[in-house]
Amino acid sequence: MNFNLENLVRENIKRLTPYSSARKEFSGAAQIFLDANENSFGSPLERNYNRYPDSLQSEIKVRIAELNSVNSSEIFVGNGSDEAIDLLFRIFCEPKKDNILICPPTYGMYEVSAEINDVAIKRVNLTEDFRLDLPAIEKTIDEQTKLLFVCSPNNPTGNSFPRAEILKLAEIFGGIVVVDEAYIHFSREKSLASEINNFNNLVVLQTFSKAWGLAGVRVGLAFANEKTIAFFNRIKPPYNISQPAQEMILRALKNSATVERMIARIVSEREKLIEKLPEIHRVEKIHSTDANFVLVKMTEAEKVYRALLDEKIVVRNRNNVELCVDCLRITVGTPEENESLMRALKKL
Ligand SMILES: Cc1ncc(COP(=O)(O)O)c(C=O)c1O
Repeated sequence: MNFNLENLVRENIKRLTPYSSARKEFSGAAQIFLDANENSFGSPLERNYNRYPDSLQSEIKVRIAELNSVNSSEIFVGNGSDEAIDLLFRIFCEPKKDNILICPPTYGMYEVSAEINDVAIKRVNLTEDFRLDLPAIEKTIDEQTKLLFVCSPNNPTGNSFPRAEILKLAEIFGGIVVVDEAYIHFSREKSLASEINNFNNLVVLQTFSKAWGLAGVRVGLAFANEKTIAFFNRIKPPYNISQPAQEMILRALKNSATVERMIARIVSEREKLIEKLPEIHRVEKIHSTDANFVLVKMTEAEKVYRALLDEKIVVRNRNNVELCVDCLRITVGTPEENESLMRALKKL
């Protein structure tokens, strides 16, 4: 399929003169900054945050580029990957005219963002065994389909989709294939970020909210070819990542060995949980998972959900989600939390 980025981007975005912040217009070594109407006296805190942060998060990008073997110019840093999802709609989807394609059951924000942006949603459900239905996807795509979301490992099912299938979609689709890799660090599959220069229509999302343990900091990433990333930068709010968030991410990036250890522990706890859950008589099926959660089919899941709440344990009730009837999505906890969960389930 012929892919042409310029043809795909909305006309108003191509015409846009981006906001030019005071700091963007200046480059050099100044000592006195009287250009941005900040408070020159400082902050009422032990540290000063009176200056606007680096709007392009250069230091962070250098380190992320190293870790992922891409260039800095191929990275967008967002206020959570949810910001990247919203910007994709604003770059590519004409409200009331274009549509996107999702493969339910999947992460809910694709639909919410589509609705906020007044963009129609085409749905091609996963098969009963949670695979991508490639022929149906190919049939459903039309001229106005601009974004195709593939979440891998998928939330809430937990499974990854084969790389070859996702790349096949990138090959046949003339729009953007968005691969949401929020849970990739727990997966047996490798990230597709390395493919962004082989497939110009590939955008890969990752986040610091899961394996990196920084959900409270709100930082997510998009990897794509340089031209696509330039469009993200054109339309993003100028200072979308705060100074404290940038500092925390930089500190975390210097400590990636700790993250590797946490991932290994989470994966090991996941496997233990999968081993023990069949001891519970209500457990009917444990779906195979590549993420830090397990989707479990239980007899009368609603009842189990409420009983767990009575024990002050919250899991995610997915009973009302298509193909997930009677399923609970359970995040892997610490060994103590998982033991409490098992005790509560055994009481049922
Ligand atoms: C598949 C998927 N993508 C993205 C997100 C949101 O990530 P962030 O916290 O970076 O906005 C989540 C959060 O649960 C998710 O499950």
